[in-house]
Amino acid sequence: MEKAQLKLNGKTYDFPVVVGTENEHAIDISRLRRDTGYITLDEGFHNTGCESSVTFIDGEKGILRYRGYDVAELAEKSSFVETAFLLVYGRLPTVTERKQFSVLLTENSLLHEDMNHYFTGLPPHAHPMAILSTMVSSFAIFYPTYFVDDKDPKTFDTMVAILLSKVRTIAAFSYKKSIGEPFVYPRHDLRFCGNFLNMMFASPVKPYEADSEAEALLNMLLILHADHEQNCSTSTVRLVGSSRVNLYSSVCAGINALWGPLHGGANQSVIEMLESIHASELTIKDVLDRAKSKSHPFRLFGFGHRVYKNFDPRAVIIKKACLKFLESRKTSDPLLDIALELEEAALKDEYFIERKLYPNVDFYSGIIYRALGIPTNMFTVLFAMGRVPGWIAQWKEMHDAVPIKIGRPRQVYMGAPLRFYKPIEEREE
Ligand code: CMC
Repeated sequence: MEKAQLKLNGKTYDFPVVVGTENEHAIDISRLRRDTGYITLDEGFHNTGCESSVTFIDGEKGILRYRGYDVAELAEKSSFVETAFLLVYGRLPTVTERKQFSVLLTENSLLHEDMNHYFTGLPPHAHPMAILSTMVSSFAIFYPTYFVDDKDPKTFDTMVAILLSKVRTIAAFSYKKSIGEPFVYPRHDLRFCGNFLNMMFASPVKPYEADSEAEALLNMLLILHADHEQNCSTSTVRLVGSSRVNLYSSVCAGINALWGPLHGGANQSVIEMLESIHASELTIKDVLDRAKSKSHPFRLFGFGHRVYKNFDPRAVIIKKACLKFLESRKTSDPLLDIALELEEAALKDEYFIERKLYPNVDFYSGIIYRALGIPTNMFTVLFAMGRVPGWIAQWKEMHDAVPIKIGRPRQVYMGAPLRFYKPIEEREE
């Protein structure tokens, strides 16, 4: 077996090299501190990883696969429900499994009626991500199946269905709450995405007309967001879950991590950025100059990625779908024109070329959501809806690992040395 050697204070230490299925290499430093007394510093975890069998990304070649299947193929041929099964259980379902899974999702789509009181008490302008986080947190109160045994397959299956199905219901309810309309309950006769669109857009005075193109698009978008290996929210789910807290609470932590504008919140920030360009005198050059300036905190939202250094395969698919959808609806969006111009200019700009910054999944997704009639503050909720299967799959992988290890980094202390307490009257003003 290949080994890495470390020379420290005249001594040589060997560390095993781990090689992944796709020939990725890692040095296993799990014995580093025990053997040498040293730890590693790795701000932002640029060089820190774990073993996982869920998702593969090759950032140089722009490859993304779930359980070995290319995401482009899944986006074209699969449904979100089937992809969710694949991620969580590691294989594509058979006809019977697919049916049983759909039934379980359907049976778990309704929220406990008492949860609706939570909604009633919320201020009308609460951000839907805050609502989602609050509601998922309350799953541990309303659906405490984990007290039984989350290693029991049946219990786990129910928790999976509760999360996948009810997150969708909460998402739609949070929208209805924000516009002051009554909730539209989930229906057993509708499929996953159609059911969501119905809960969002039906009202007591106007039924929602089924729209197969919108449904297909939503399926595709959810598939493209379903997992992305060890990103910020997934690592959060794993870290929180490593304390052996229940699945709901772990996923809830992931939702909160996702909300940030450098992560899933970027889809909202992209549209706000495009809107502010549209409403102002700013030129594309002004925007790029601002994004490049070190004295300005502004970044070009929807651009750049920790892993992709060539292109983000999800962004390529989404851009194509976005153009096709607007064309099929014979509609235009001035924000799309700005986005296309921004992309073209950035890709020619030395700053972006040098740093390998390309459009990511969030750059064009918001324009599709807008075309579907989904308001901007709901975009990150849709990202979360899509990411639930990935969080569950990664949580389960971590949860099933033996031996059980709590995530607990070390530190190098850089603060004050030992000091002695001074009574307040002796302290200088
Ligand atoms: N606009 C301007 N400069 C950028 C951008 C950007 N969008 N992204 C990276 N850079 C610069 C950054 O300033 C740094 O420059 P320098 O080397 O001169 O200091 C260099 O590129 C490397 O950036 P980094 O911040 O070290 O890269 P990272 O891997 O830590 O961050 C990122 C990745 C996605 C947080 C970052 O590219 C970013 O902030 N992008 C905008 C927000 C965004 O679109 N986020 C969604 C990410 S994809 C979906 C998801 O994860 O949820």
